[in-house]
Amino acid sequence: MIDSIAVRVPAKVNAQLAVGGRRPDGFHDLANVFLAVGLYDEITVTPADELRITVEGPDADQVPRDRTNLAARAAELLAARHGIEPRVHLHIAKDIPVAGGMAGGSADGAGALLACDALWNTGATREELLDICAELGSDVPFSLVGGAALGRGRGELLTPLTVGGTFHWVFAVADGGLSTPAVYGECDRLRAERGAGDTIDDVPAPEPSAALLDALRAGDATALAAALTAGPDGSSNDLQAAAVSLRPSLADTLRAGTTAGALASLVSGSGPTCAFLAKDAAGAEQVATALAASGTCRTARVAASPAAGATVVREDRRA
Ligand code: C5P
Repeated sequence: MIDSIAVRVPAKVNAQLAVGGRRPDGFHDLANVFLAVGLYDEITVTPADELRITVEGPDADQVPRDRTNLAARAAELLAARHGIEPRVHLHIAKDIPVAGGMAGGSADGAGALLACDALWNTGATREELLDICAELGSDVPFSLVGGAALGRGRGELLTPLTVGGTFHWVFAVADGGLSTPAVYGECDRLRAERGAGDTIDDVPAPEPSAALLDALRAGDATALAAALTAGPDGSSNDLQAAAVSLRPSLADTLRAGTTAGALASLVSGSGPTCAFLAKDAAGAEQVATALAASGTCRTARVAASPAAGATVVREDRRA
C-alpha cells in the first residue's frame, strides 16, 4: 500500500510572450515560448480524512490553503472524474517564487494532479491529464510536460520545441507578487491609451519569432539574447511594459542585470521576477552575485533550462 508520493515540478520562463488582443472570453491569444527552468516545487500527497493543504518555503504565508489553490482543485477535478473522494493531504514545498510570473501556482496544480493520479491509480491517459491541466489554468499543461514548447490559444495548446543546448539564467526575485489578470489588464489599457485598440479585432495575431526558435534549436545563447530583446518594446515579452508600468522599480532591476553583464534582461511572464540570460554557468553566478548586491531585488537565483516536467521523485510504501 502506498503511503505517500512526491512529485517535483519546474518553474518556467517565457522566452517569448506575444500577446494578441483580448478575446470575448477575456483571455488573450498567445504565441508563448515556454522554457522549463531548474527551480522546483515539490508536492507530496498522503491519504487523509479530508482534503487539506500545508505549505513550507520562504513565502509560504502567501499561498492559499483553501480550494482556490490549484493543487486542491487538481485533486478535486481528478477525483470527480473517477468517482473518488479527494481525501488527501497535499504538502507543498515551495521554491518557485510566489505570484512571480514563473508559473509556481500552475506547477503545484500539475504536481498535485500527477501525485494524486499515481496514488489513486486512476489509469488516466496523458491526454486526460492534459485536459484537466487546461481546465485548471493556461500554464498548467506546460508545467506537466516541461522541456520547451510553443503554447498557442491561451497558452494551453502545446507543441514541443527542440532545444540544442543548456541555457543559463539568473532570476531576480522581487518582494511581493503581481496579479496576472492585473498585468494583462494593464497591457490592454496601455494599448488602448496608444490608440491601437486592445481587442482581438484590433491587435495583430501573435506569432512566434523564427529567429528565437532558431536560437533555441541551435543552443546559441548570443542569438537567443538578440531575439529576447528584439520585440517592439525592446523585449520578446509583450507583458513587460505592463509589468514595469505597475511596478516601475523593475526598470532598475532590469538595468542592474544588464550592467552586471547579462546577455539579455527581461521580465519573466507577468512578473515581477526578472530573468537574465548569461553566457554560461560561471557568467550566471557572476550576474547573480552582482544583482544580489545591487539592492534592486530580494534574492537572485541561478537556474538552467530546459528542465524536465512534473516527475515522481519518491514513493513511500507502508510495510
Ligand atoms: O489561465 P489562468 O487562470 O492562469 O489565467 C489567469 C488570468 O490571466 C486570466 O483570468 C486572464 O485574466 C489572464 N490571461 C489572459 N490570457 C491568457 C492567459 C491568462 O488574459 N492567455
